[in-house]
Amino acid sequence: MSTFTMDTGTSRATPSPVPGKRTTAPSIRARKIAGEDGLRTEQPIVMLTAYTMRMAQLLDPHCDMLLVGDSLGQVIYGLPSTIPVTLEMMCAHGAAVVRGSWHALVAVDMPFGSYEASPVQAFESAARIMKETGCAAVKLEGGEAMAPTIDLLTKRGVPVIGHVGLTPQAVNVLGGYGARGREEHEAQKIIADAKAVADAGAFCIVVEGVMEQIATAVARSVAPPVIGIGASADCDGQVLVIDDMLGMFERTPRFVKRYDDLAARIGEAARAYAEEVRARTFPTADQTYRPKPSP
Ligand code: KIV
Repeated sequence: MSTFTMDTGTSRATPSPVPGKRTTAPSIRARKIAGEDGLRTEQPIVMLTAYTMRMAQLLDPHCDMLLVGDSLGQVIYGLPSTIPVTLEMMCAHGAAVVRGSWHALVAVDMPFGSYEASPVQAFESAARIMKETGCAAVKLEGGEAMAPTIDLLTKRGVPVIGHVGLTPQAVNVLGGYGARGREEHEAQKIIADAKAVADAGAFCIVVEGVMEQIATAVARSVAPPVIGIGASADCDGQVLVIDDMLGMFERTPRFVKRYDDLAARIGEAARAYAEEVRARTFPTADQTYRPKPSP
């Protein structure tokens, strides 16, 4: 199910990579070691979101982990938030990303409503995600309240990535997507959440949208690697939403660095195509089937 093979009978086959061993949850967990200045990874962990097979192929050689984030709700489906994202969506995109990758650990987000009711509900949803996608881990949002769920999942064979700080599925409770931890009591709560998630067995933790010093404090105090997004360069790794870092959107959060301006480049390609179609200068002889000249 999750092997990386290409059907060369399709019109868009790309070269098959040399098969290798996929990155595992224990190997990610083991990257955090006790150094002279506390717990840290020697080399930061690289994570990006991916939602499609082809994007996974392009990102896989550069990433330790690919996250099939429920951000696909906004990025792929044009939904207003991650709340309406379904298990079906996550399974379909998760399977595509597993098919398009061979080296990175693929983690799939558990969507809102698929895990919060009880640890048993979470296990049933996680088992479905793992069976249907072939992914090696799931990610779920929440701190202390989710500790019993993370404990049950990890003890029953589901590697879990925690997610604390700004948790977008809780947007209706938080009242928006602003950075968290400006008040001391909220900062302490985020640190306590991260510790609870770590103690429950998460093999790594995403910390999103928090004051820099909170992310640093969390990274230095919990045993699993801490992956930051809008957090701190001092985290054990970083993650970004792929479409944000490629410049696919005109407006992105302040913490995003755009490494390209694909929106403008795609618009320019579409404009050039439209111009040539209207001028009948596309297709040319190069793109047209004609009878072979007789010998
Ligand atoms: O859904 C997502 O893409 C995420 C990342 C932003 C961490 O959770």
